[in-house]
Amino acid sequence: MKTNQPHATWVEVDLSALQKNIRIIREVTQIPIMAVVKANGYGHGFIPVTKSAVKAGVNWFGVARPRMAVKMREEGILSKILVLGYIPPERIEEMIQLDVSLTIWTQDHLEFVREAAKHKTKSAKVHILADTGMGRLGCMPGETLSLAQATAAADNVHLEGLFSHLARADELDTEPTNNQGKKFKQIIQVLTKHDLLPKIIHMANSAGSLAHPNTHFNLIRPGIAIYGLPPSPDIQLPEGIKPILSWKSVLASIKDLPPNHGVSYGHQYVTTRRERIGVIPLGYADGYRRVPGNAVLINGKKAPVIGRVCMDQCMIQLEDIPNPQIGDEVVLIGKQGKEEITVDQVALTWNTINYEVTCSIGSRVPRMFPD
Ligand SMILES: Cc1ncc(COP(=O)(O)O)c(C=O)c1O
Repeated sequence: MKTNQPHATWVEVDLSALQKNIRIIREVTQIPIMAVVKANGYGHGFIPVTKSAVKAGVNWFGVARPRMAVKMREEGILSKILVLGYIPPERIEEMIQLDVSLTIWTQDHLEFVREAAKHKTKSAKVHILADTGMGRLGCMPGETLSLAQATAAADNVHLEGLFSHLARADELDTEPTNNQGKKFKQIIQVLTKHDLLPKIIHMANSAGSLAHPNTHFNLIRPGIAIYGLPPSPDIQLPEGIKPILSWKSVLASIKDLPPNHGVSYGHQYVTTRRERIGVIPLGYADGYRRVPGNAVLINGKKAPVIGRVCMDQCMIQLEDIPNPQIGDEVVLIGKQGKEEITVDQVALTWNTINYEVTCSIGSRVPRMFPD
C-alpha cells in the first residue's frame, strides 16, 4: 500500500481518541484532570495534545520545563499550568508573569520565589511537593508544615496547592501506595489544623487514578493513560481507552542480495541464500533503537529488521512480504491490515517501558494530526 506522506518517517496522532481517553478517565474517576504533557506530551506533540485536551474539558496541565509553559502561552493556551519539578531561579519571574504555577519543596526554593515575586504586580502561585515515599523531589512529611507556614507568610506568594507523587501505584501490591496515601493524609490533617491547607490537593498519576481511588483528592495527574497506554502490565485500562500514536515510514529500496552477503555495519546479518532486502529511511537518529529484534509491518505482514540499525536507515527482510513496492507504507508502531505492533511490544524488544518508547521518538520526526 503506497503512502502519500512527503516524509521519510512520521508519527500520526489520533486526537479524537485522545479526547475519548480523557472523557473515559473522567467518567471512571469523577475527578478533574491535570493532563501531564511533559516530554513533548510523551512524544506525541504537546501543543496539539494540549489544545485538544482543552476541548475535552481539561483545565490543568503539568509540564516539566518552563520552556513548555512559555510555548503554551505563546500558542494562546490560557489554562492553568504547573511546572512539576525544578525551575532554574532565573526563570521564576517569567513564570509568575505568565501566570504559571510553581513547585517548591525547600525553604531555598521559597526564597527564590519570594525574591522574584517582590517586583511583580501578580503574586506567585506555588504548590508544595511533599515526599511521601517517592524518594525524589519533595520535602519530607515533617518539613511540610514549616514550609507551608513560611509560604503563607511570604509577601506576594500564594499557596495554591499541595501534592505528592506515587512510586508504586502500578504494582499489584497495594500496600506501598496505601502507605503513601496515609502519609499524605497526615500532612493534610496537620495543615488543616493550622488553617494552611491549600485549595488544590493532588497525588494520583495514571495508576493511582485508575487503581487507587484513595489517592484521588480533588485533582488527578494522569499522563500515560491519556495517551491510551497502560502504566504497567498490572494495571488494566478502562474499556474504550485506545493508543493514539502510530509511527510510520516508507519502503525506500528493494534489492536482491546474493547468498553470503553482509547487511549493515559489522555484517551482523549475512544472507544465507538469495534474499530480498528492503531499506527504510529511519534510524537511531529518529529514536529507533539500535538493538536486535525490531520488526515492522508492510503490506499487512510482519517483516524483521535485520543487521544493525544505522543513523538514518535500517534494513528489513522482505521474504514474506507479498509484492513489495518502493513507496509502500511501513508501520513501526500501530496497525496495518489485521496486524498490529504495540508500543508495549516495542518496549519489550528495547528492554524498557512504553513511556520511554514514545518519549524517545526523535524531534526530527514530524508529528501529524489527521482528522
Ligand atoms: C509528578 C508527576 N505527576 C504525574 C505524572 C504522570 O504519570 P503517569 O504517566 O504514570 O500517569 C508524572 C510522570 O512521570 C509525574 O512525574
